Formats: sequence, structure tokens, C-alpha cells
Amino acid sequence: MDLLGIDIGGSGIKGALVNAETGALVADRLRIPTPKPATPKAVSQVVAQLTQHFDYQGPIGCAFPARMKGGVAQIATNVDKAWIGTNAEALFAKATGCPVVVLNDADAAGVAEVTFGAGRDRNDLVLMLTFGTGIGSALFADQRLIPNTELGHLHLPSGQHAESYAADRARKEEDLSWSDWAKRVQAYLTHVEFLLDPDLIVMGGGVSKPKRTAKYLHLLDTKAELVPAQLQNEAGIVGAAYYAFAQQQA
Ligand code: BGC
Repeated sequence: MDLLGIDIGGSGIKGALVNAETGALVADRLRIPTPKPATPKAVSQVVAQLTQHFDYQGPIGCAFPARMKGGVAQIATNVDKAWIGTNAEALFAKATGCPVVVLNDADAAGVAEVTFGAGRDRNDLVLMLTFGTGIGSALFADQRLIPNTELGHLHLPSGQHAESYAADRARKEEDLSWSDWAKRVQAYLTHVEFLLDPDLIVMGGGVSKPKRTAKYLHLLDTKAELVPAQLQNEAGIVGAAYYAFAQQQA
């Protein structure tokens, strides 16, 4: 079964049809720049545009960069404040005429990794962390998602706000070398391990591309197995589509 997966990000909104059995994209994905300001109305128009582009009718899964409960955005650190309290599922359903499920972006990426990627067949505690504009987290116990963990907002023992200190955005904005950035990520991982003791940590986001992991992964030392994400750019789309598929089956 092919489902439409949509990944809503700060700079782009990407959509593709995904084969829910294999996690593969059925055709090329389409990326539309995120409208500015990214208000609920403007974003829902893009979601409708993507649905029309793929000439799609059916369940849609959307990944969104905020805590989502029952389709409603709870906090909005890197998105327009108008999203707080907005029922994104109802809004997108109205705009597309399709049933829509919306989940946190890191949760979606994690669902993709535990189903088709680096966390496949793991029946222990798996933590997916995404490093981008923010730090997203997704926790899985025996393949079961514990949603909305928001571990990017932890404070480190040094007092630093983890996301402001160690996201990929900090590396870019502060022009950090890979090894200086890796020291920050290490401080974060050490703290997260102290709190949760995961068995596997999957590093996702733009930094999970092979040519990037070569620059820092060997500098990190964790008790858990530490591996890069396998689905990289597509993880949000694939995870969101799979999540919508799984909800249909439930
Ligand atoms: C948000 C999370 C999101 C993460 C990655 C954080 O600022 O609070 O909900 O998963 O950024 O986009």
C-alpha cells in the first residue's frame, strides 16, 4: 500500500508516496519552501498542494517539529507560535479532504529507523536523536514508541540548554570545528545516557550523511551502540507515512 508522507520543516515541506511494506519512496519526492511566516493556514495550503501534486486520496502522515498530542501542537520552539493549541490534524484534513495523522518529526524519523533502518529488529531500548535546527528525540522500548520525549530541551550539568548548545545549528552559527562540536555532543550524550541508559543510539538529521559522520562519529564515546541513521533525508517522510499506515491497521 502506498501512502503520502509529508515532512514539515523550518525551510522546506517535503512529500512523497511511500510503500508502507518496504519504506521505499514510490516516486521522486517534492519539496516546497516553507511559507514565511509559517502560519497554520499557509502550511496547510502547502500540504494541500502536495496532496494534489501526487493526485492522492487516502491516509496522510505528517511529521511536525513540535510536541503533538491528539493532533494538537503543544509547544513551538522553532515554529510559528500560532501553532500552539492548533489542531493540525483537523486543519490538514479539511485542506486535503483526507484523513491525516500528525506526529513529532523526531518520532517520525525514529519510527522509520526502527521499522526500516538502523533500529530494525531491536527489542531493547532505542533512542533516536536528530541534530538539525533543534535536537529532536524519539524513544522506543521493544519497538514501541514513547512519544514526545523532547530530550533536546534538557539542561546539561553545566547548565547549558542542550539544543542551543549542541544542535547542528550551533555548529553552523558559531562556526565550530567538527571536533569542538563533537565535544558538545559528547557532553549531551553522556548526560542522556546517565538518565536513560539506552542500548542503541541512532544519530539522525543532516549530520547522519556518511560524508559528515566521518568527521565526528569516531570522536564520540558512548556505552550504548552509536550508529548513524540509515534513512537520512527521507526518515521523516517514511516514518510519517508508515505511522499513518500502522494506525489504519490498528
Ligand atoms: C522541538 C521538537 C523537535 C526538534 C527537532 C525541537 O526544538 O521542540 O519538537 O522534534 O526541535 O525538530
